[in-house]
Amino acid sequence: MNRRAQFATRMGVVATTVGSAVGLGNIWRFPYEAGSHGGGAFLLCYLFFIFVIGVPVISAEFVMGRASRSGIIGSFRCHSGSRRWDWIGYSSILAAILILSFYSVVAGWTMEYTCESVIGRLGDVADDARHDRFDGFISGWGSVWWMLVFLLINALVLLGGVKKGIERMSNILMPLLFLILLVFCVNSLLMSGVAEGLAFLFSPDFSAITPGVVLGAMGQAFFSLSIGLGCMMTYASYFSDRTPIVKSATTTALLDTLVAVLSGVIIFPAVFSFGMEAEAGPRLVFEVLPSVFGRLSGSDVWSALFFFLLALASLTSTISMSEIFISFACDEFRMSRRTATVLLTLIAMSLGTLCALSFGPLRDFTLGVKRFSTSLTMCRATYCSRSAEW
Ligand code: ALA
Repeated sequence: MNRRAQFATRMGVVATTVGSAVGLGNIWRFPYEAGSHGGGAFLLCYLFFIFVIGVPVISAEFVMGRASRSGIIGSFRCHSGSRRWDWIGYSSILAAILILSFYSVVAGWTMEYTCESVIGRLGDVADDARHDRFDGFISGWGSVWWMLVFLLINALVLLGGVKKGIERMSNILMPLLFLILLVFCVNSLLMSGVAEGLAFLFSPDFSAITPGVVLGAMGQAFFSLSIGLGCMMTYASYFSDRTPIVKSATTTALLDTLVAVLSGVIIFPAVFSFGMEAEAGPRLVFEVLPSVFGRLSGSDVWSALFFFLLALASLTSTISMSEIFISFACDEFRMSRRTATVLLTLIAMSLGTLCALSFGPLRDFTLGVKRFSTSLTMCRATYCSRSAEW
């Protein structure tokens, strides 16, 4: 008899799949990618990939996972009737572990920034000292400790199981995340730079659409939807037979896109209101935004809320990346959930430590010609482009 766990409610299905999709990709990566790639032009290409390729691919993953009721390797075996495609499953599991390790480092940064805001230390930093502060933090051991704490929290949720851990956590965190986003949106829409910020995001300059922008938008769309990695396929193996596939896929894509667009609506009016740089790249959220918050009354409350939002979004995504390995280890090796969780956490902690240190003490240690952290990021980029092949 198939005793695989199932999500208990339709709300649980939406909260977990949207939780997987919504993460650092939407709130940290989307604004800096859009900021560096011309705003509206990037958004247009992004929307194209989300709805023309993303929704069908999520639906395909949902169909495969639900019909096989097993993790990624089992799904490929079930649908192909052979072990010929196992390598795709193994490469997905490897990619998920590598991405989890890198992602947890950045998630750790968001936890440090949340705590610094809560104790009122982030607002005190002068604008021109923010760059050095951020560099100093990411190149030290503090970044490693926060990554370890984040992975421990991730493990605790996973140990709770599919229904009591993952589903319950997503049911609570996702509505909270939308609520915090709405509060920020209202605040941004009241700023003086709102017209300029919204025009930057919503009026595409067609001449800015270059191959680089198209490729960037494609990678961003696939990463943001968590497709091609097995997250959605694994979650779908916990769907009930009555879960509507296309409707769930469309809802996931719509809500994921809404969060990315809302993040842009939050960030660009703020950036333009205070004459900051929209093209600041990965540092946009960690250096530019704290300066923006510093100009608002109650700056520590705003920044604590924002970085807490990022940490929550990261957690719901890392849970889904972790579940790919856990489901595989339980299905294939009859491992207990607890053993699989502990094993995965130890692997991610080891790789994450190397990754975090590659911004500091290990910055001269390379894989090929790239730093360790850059190599993991490239693995993500390669994966995002490859998911189009499925
Ligand atoms: N889909 C997840 C994100 O956007 C991985 O962060």
